[in-house]
Amino acid sequence: MGAYDNNISKRALDNTFYSVSIYDGNKIIGYGRLIGDTICFMYIHDVMVLPEYQSKKIGTMIMNKLLEQIKELKKENPSIRVYLGASKNKEKFYEKFGFVKRIDVGLGYGMLFKD
Ligand SMILES: CC(C)(COP(=O)(O)OP(=O)(O)OC[C@H]1O[C@@H](n2cnc3c(N)ncnc32)[C@H](O)[C@@H]1OP(=O)(O)O)[C@@H](O)C(=O)NCCC(=O)NCCS
Repeated sequence: MGAYDNNISKRALDNTFYSVSIYDGNKIIGYGRLIGDTICFMYIHDVMVLPEYQSKKIGTMIMNKLLEQIKELKKENPSIRVYLGASKNKEKFYEKFGFVKRIDVGLGYGMLFKD
C-alpha cells in the first residue's frame, strides 16, 4: 500500500471483507486481508510481516486466521475458489498452506492488466 496515498489506501481497505492485524503492544507488526464476492471467488491479499518480526510464525498465524474465515465461507459454497498473487520467491511460503501454482493444475499463468 506504500505506493498509494493514504486516502486511496483507506478506501481500498474499507472494502475488505475480513482482515487480520497482529500487534506487539500497540504497534501493528503483521497484516493480511480477504477480498472477494464471498460466494464464488475470494482473494488473499497484502499478507505482510515487518522485517524484524519475520521468521517467527507470524505469517503462519495470519494465514491460518484467513483460512479459518475461508472455511466458514465454504459452509455456504464448498467449491469457493481462493486465489492469491504471490510475490516473486514467496511461493514456498504459500505452498505450506495448500496453495499450488495455477500452471501446475493445468490452468494458465494468470494475467495482469498492464495499462
Ligand atoms: C512472506 C511473509 C508474510 C512470511 O511471514 P513470516 O512470519 O516471516 O513466515 P513464517 O515465520 O510464518 O514462516 C512459515 C514458513 O514459511 C517459510 N517461509 C517464509 N517465507 C518464505 C519464503 N520467502 N520462501 C520460502 N519459505 C518461506 C518459513 O521458512 C517457514 O517454514 P517452516 O514452517 O518449515 O519453518 C513475510 O516474510 C513478509 O511479510 N514478507 C514481505 C512481504 C511479502 O512479500 N508478502 C507476501 C506478498 S505475496
